[in-house]
Amino acid sequence: MFTETAKFRDHHFQPLRNGLTNKPNGSDKYAQSELYLDGNPSVDRPIIVQFCANDPAELLDAAQYVAPFCDAVDLNLGCPQGIARKGRYGAFLQEDQELIYKLINTLHINLSVPVTAKMRILESKEETLNYAKKILSAGASILTVHGRHRDQKGHKTGLADWSVIRYLRENLPKETVLFANGNILRTEDIDKCLEETGADAVMSAEGNLYDPSIFGEVPPIGEEGREYWRGRDGKGGYRMDAVFRRYMDILYKHVLEVPPPARKPLFLPNDSPSALEPCAEEEAVNDVERPPKKKQKRDQKEKTSSPNLLAMQPHLFHLLRPLVSKHHHIRDALARCKAGDIAAFEAVLQMVEAVTRDALIEYEATDGKSMEADFQDPPAPAASSEKDGSNDVALDESSVQTVKECKRPWWICQPYVRPLPAEALKKGALHLSKKELAKMAEEEQRKKLESSKSFEIPKPSAIEFASLASMSAVDVLGHTELEDVNGGPETVEAPKEGLVCG
Ligand SMILES: Cc1cc2nc3c(=O)[nH]c(=O)nc-3n(C[C@H](O)[C@H](O)[C@H](O)COP(=O)(O)O)c2cc1C
Repeated sequence: MFTETAKFRDHHFQPLRNGLTNKPNGSDKYAQSELYLDGNPSVDRPIIVQFCANDPAELLDAAQYVAPFCDAVDLNLGCPQGIARKGRYGAFLQEDQELIYKLINTLHINLSVPVTAKMRILESKEETLNYAKKILSAGASILTVHGRHRDQKGHKTGLADWSVIRYLRENLPKETVLFANGNILRTEDIDKCLEETGADAVMSAEGNLYDPSIFGEVPPIGEEGREYWRGRDGKGGYRMDAVFRRYMDILYKHVLEVPPPARKPLFLPNDSPSALEPCAEEEAVNDVERPPKKKQKRDQKEKTSSPNLLAMQPHLFHLLRPLVSKHHHIRDALARCKAGDIAAFEAVLQMVEAVTRDALIEYEATDGKSMEADFQDPPAPAASSEKDGSNDVALDESSVQTVKECKRPWWICQPYVRPLPAEALKKGALHLSKKELAKMAEEEQRKKLESSKSFEIPKPSAIEFASLASMSAVDVLGHTELEDVNGGPETVEAPKEGLVCG
């Protein structure tokens, strides 16, 4: 599809202002003024472009379009979705490793930039190792390993198995560049993962969507500044209003190419009283450079096709999940935002800033007690409250425990923790076939045996950060699912359209 139409390319990759109309000639040189967003050396490097494919010549053709604007091309061997099964790509190529070899090797031999690959783990460590060796022998320069099997998706996502990644590290040549993927929900997980897997880097997808500050520096105590917040218990994180502002400002600067509106510094409770004046917000709105009213109306009717603007609503629903669960007027305002209507998003930002300001004032005034109710223990999962504890979900593998560790006040960026399959089963949210039940029992048994046999294999407690893989408000292809942002019966319609690739 990428090679077929310029329109499709433009929806997925925008390295040039005038679009990727033709296949670049290897010797083409581009002036900075011709360059737009993707792979632009001034804002977007390093960048690896990923394709899913099952035909080596087609893959090479597509890769040649992007090669001048990226550092490497990656082959997606991890997608577990039904559409990948139908189209025979992603994780459904696992059974045809000769084809995988040809796909990678074709790029390795013919492409001007390196080729890399992202795979899932197979049934056994040994099979996974052989699979990894095959990919590397074809010429992959970096191997990203998602520590879940192909069928670990949706309710069955569960935890990624870092011990398999460790096994690869120990059994592949030392110079192999390995990225670990899965279970990275919080900044703290990054070092833990690097240590436990021995990988050279980690990759985070959903953790990064819910908390875009996941790779950010955590400031030392006393040096929080305005963007970072630390509570009375010492736990903190980046403020959603801060991240939302930065998100908007990136769009103004790079997509709309207008100066971001002048903004007052983010509110802090010890600011002078003038910071509380409501007109501060209105000023900011008025400062936004907006087209004349008539044009605005026309623009709003014409649906934008810009992937950058289409992604805003889904991105913001991820970022603001705990906040919109509490403040339904903000949830509704965000749901009403039309793609491309920047003023509407700016108005949501101001609503977010206002509720954050009130919450911070209340937190200080009550010496932190205003949040106590929100931090009471969540109800125990059905499993642990059952009299017959034979099938209890171990605490260190429970999402309830993870929720406790990850939870921050609703105005702070935080991951969304899904119930683990065992918990979902107990709650009746997941029904498995007999075959699947038997497989799950077998897997449990195998894990128990492994952890009792070897001290080298990290216990799941170390990788307890729960599953966030393939279920998301916005999937790989931009399709959306209804997502219950309250974790309860009330559902919010997640964004209708959006595009998040990878
Ligand atoms: C919205 C979304 C889109 C994704 N798109 C891709 C993709 O295009 N290619 C890919 O290899 N993996 C994709 N993934 C899977 C992630 O790369 C990752 O392997 C998986 O989510 C587990 O990592 P995480 O726990 O950090 O989310 C996607 C995941 C999400 C949530």
